[in-house]
Amino acid sequence: MHEKLKPKIVVTRKIPTAVSDLLRANFNVELNETDVPFSKKQLQSAVKRADGILCTVSDQIDSEVIKVKNSRISIISNFGVGVSNIDIACAENESLVVTNTPNVLTESTAEIALFLILAVSRKTTLSEDKLRRNLWKGFSIVDDLGISLSGKTLGIVGMGRIGKATARKVKNALNMEIIFHNRSRVTDKDAYGRQVETLDELLTKSDIISIHAPGGGDVPILTEKDILKMKPSAFLINTARGDVIDEKGLIKALKANQIGGAGLDVFESEPNVPEELLSLPNVTLLPHIGSATLQTREAMGFLAVNNLIAHFSDKNYPSRVI
Ligand code: DGY
Repeated sequence: MHEKLKPKIVVTRKIPTAVSDLLRANFNVELNETDVPFSKKQLQSAVKRADGILCTVSDQIDSEVIKVKNSRISIISNFGVGVSNIDIACAENESLVVTNTPNVLTESTAEIALFLILAVSRKTTLSEDKLRRNLWKGFSIVDDLGISLSGKTLGIVGMGRIGKATARKVKNALNMEIIFHNRSRVTDKDAYGRQVETLDELLTKSDIISIHAPGGGDVPILTEKDILKMKPSAFLINTARGDVIDEKGLIKALKANQIGGAGLDVFESEPNVPEELLSLPNVTLLPHIGSATLQTREAMGFLAVNNLIAHFSDKNYPSRVI
């Protein structure tokens, strides 16, 4: 097809080469090789000159973008499983299709949850920092002591795909007991644990809590009050979205040693990480890298492009949200 006749897709961030090659073979493509995130104005301008946008979890596709005058897009293809960056209700009102990239990132995100569980329970961030700053005095019998995990309890909040993959990895690798809380009953054996009736039961019984629930709710899933129900020695892991935990409440609890520590890959207002978190010794902090392997990012990209291809052909979407 002549380039001008192909639907035009604006891509908001840099994507893997194999993905842009597939995109170019099917569409008239505008890439963002600088990888500098678009401002609101740039997003508003993008939707006016494209038939579809390929955006990601760092782009706020709110009503001011979706409802901009003379918008031309009919699809928002999100490079990411979470869609809390998109005003879904508004997109639906405007009759836009929204797609996402589930499944392909499940294992890599669960790997990062497993990593954070190990890092916080063995205080590796603090120990490595000591070593890098030349403060290590040599082997010690009593310094740098963490906690052993075998036989301890992991509580998973949200037993979806990533929750289950985390449960499986933790059970197999660390021999921990698994309990979980989920809004609906989970019947399949993939759960690898026992479902508890209330969040309170999970909070009070777990040595480590890992949250695997979508963001974008009006209130955090774990409020300050919930955090204070955790054992004083327990660790909180978040690889989901910053807003699923009350971040200020978490910082307060960490500063007062009301919980043991936290492993965080996501933050409420990315890329801003509260100064107070940065200076705390009992946390491991990562820059939202749950799905960050080349294989996973290529698989996510192919899925995002295949959603676009389906939209402009047979409508047989691999993963449509609305
Ligand atoms: C997602 O897909 O929602 C992750 O947060 C980024 O891969």
